[in-house]
Amino acid sequence: MQDLPRKVGLAALLAAAVAAAAPAPRRTFTPWDGTPPPPPPPSKDLFEQGARVYRGACLGCHGEKGDGQGREGKLLAIPPRDFITVNCISRSTPSGSLPTPADLFRSIRRGFKPSVGMPAFTFLSDREVWAVIAHLTTLSPRWKSEPVPPPIEIPPPPRRTPELVKAGEAVYRATGCAACHGEEGKGDGPSAAALTYDNGKPIPPANFWRPEDFKGGTRPGDVFRTLTTGMDGTPMPAFGEVLTAEQRWQLAFWIISLGEQAVRGPQASR
Ligand code: HEC
Ligand code: HEC
Repeated sequence: MQDLPRKVGLAALLAAAVAAAAPAPRRTFTPWDGTPPPPPPPSKDLFEQGARVYRGACLGCHGEKGDGQGREGKLLAIPPRDFITVNCISRSTPSGSLPTPADLFRSIRRGFKPSVGMPAFTFLSDREVWAVIAHLTTLSPRWKSEPVPPPIEIPPPPRRTPELVKAGEAVYRATGCAACHGEEGKGDGPSAAALTYDNGKPIPPANFWRPEDFKGGTRPGDVFRTLTTGMDGTPMPAFGEVLTAEQRWQLAFWIISLGEQAVRGPQASR
């Protein structure tokens, strides 16, 4: 109490006492692969906070209206996503659908590989992330006219065995993935050079030997989800209706095994 100036009014003293008795809620910073606390209920405060965070941290790239035409955004080789069309690359919902709020939370926290240019926003509190997500939903009429479908079901993964990984390679060859991703999954297939984003800029197919570049995450369930829902706004198709869940798990484990070999050598992932 000795720090208090001499002439504080009774009201200020009381306010200080109340504040000390009921500390502000703790600011939490859930990592991208954790489970965030539920979003706060929508309120004027939340939307105003979201607009502030957006102006400070996102507008330069994604643009004031969310059209991806911010001053810095225009200079990037990979265009920032357009929050008006809301074609999302990292979604747990079926192809063409809006993402879930948790999908957006994951993308904002994780960011996109350094060569893409979107940093991982680890310094925003969970509430600030939810607030900026609330702001994103004001940028497109889609959020008013379309329901967000429930996330796809991710069945429990099968036990990983050498046979399962090998089966994944066979599915890869039989499904035509190599046309884009190349015989060895290095992103250098015959069609690779001609591929573009929905706005016409070139897009390289993923190189499975560089999993640190994956946009949707590298855990088995992340790769399974990406294979199931595809990456909207890019040429990466959704395979949820083309391949069985078993085949998608086999593929996911084969792809993960290549990343492990890249780090630890050929014997790493049998
Ligand atoms: C330095 C530029 C930059 C800044 C700053 C930036 N972004 Fe991005 N953001 C990008 C780029 C580029 C992409 C496109 C990634 C891609 O297509 O590979 C992107 C993509 C996204 C996506 C798309 C996810 C998906 O599934 O398609 C979301 C959501 C997003 N940003 C939210 C934000 C939010 C919220 C902020 C501010 C807190 C922000 N970004 C700040 C550059 C930026
Ligand atoms: C028509 C070309 C094309 C075909 C066919 C294709 N992909 Fe892709 N794939 C892409 C492109 C382009 C990207 C990069 C998207 C991006 O960076 O936004 C990609 C990205 C990926 C990623 C990276 C996911 C991430 O989180 O960044 C995986 C894994 C993947 N593809 C697996 C496959 C598998 C397995 C098949 C076959 C079952 C397949 N792809 C078929 C074009 C294709």
